[in-house]
Amino acid sequence: MKIAPSMLASKPENYVHDVQILEKANVEWFHIDVLDGTFTDTYAFPVEHLEIINNATDFPMDIHLMTNHAIESLPKYIEAGGDMLTAHVEAVNPRKYIDAVKKHDKMVGLAINPDTPLSSIIDYIDELDRILVMTVVPGKGGQSLIVDCLDKVEQLRKIRANNNLGFDIQVDGGVKKENIKLVNNAGADIAVAGTSIFNSENSIQNNIQALMDAVR
Ligand code: DX5
Ligand code: ZN
Repeated sequence: MKIAPSMLASKPENYVHDVQILEKANVEWFHIDVLDGTFTDTYAFPVEHLEIINNATDFPMDIHLMTNHAIESLPKYIEAGGDMLTAHVEAVNPRKYIDAVKKHDKMVGLAINPDTPLSSIIDYIDELDRILVMTVVPGKGGQSLIVDCLDKVEQLRKIRANNNLGFDIQVDGGVKKENIKLVNNAGADIAVAGTSIFNSENSIQNNIQALMDAVR
């Protein structure tokens, strides 16, 4: 399983430093939480902040669009470096959103909140590159993982295998060394982690290593 650090838990003044450390910790994606106060009541990651990170690394940018204006936001977040663009099925018309991302020739994901059923995305899963299963209510880091959400991960893994589909399964919210094995066993390909990487007494390297060791 891969780890995607949520840069929401870092700070703009530390982005370049943290990215350089994380590159050596062989993460695969940088997870960028775009919050514009419309889908949640929090704000983060104007495009300028994405540009700082994108200019500091060649690693792909995993953009998590928590906004009611995902389609309108696409050009500026793609221009600023977005490679994978995931919007919330609760906030977009999936058909229009998928078409809009594909028109830019980028990878497309849909995210589902803890209380959103898989049925809300099932008609589109053969067109998606990523399904983001939220294990917290979106809006901020540092919350506790909602274990029941992992049932959706298991169901998605079965649906993917039975239908020979290609989307990857990402889990986001409250992932820590104490629960990452559950996340992995449920079938997630990628775990987003913020607080458990950045905001604790250990170094970033040690925190990432602890997450990877806990999966073994
Ligand atoms: C929450 C974000 C998550 C969050 C993860 O709205 O989508 O990516 O930053 O942070 P932790 O790992 O601290 O829950
Ligand atoms: Zn996120």
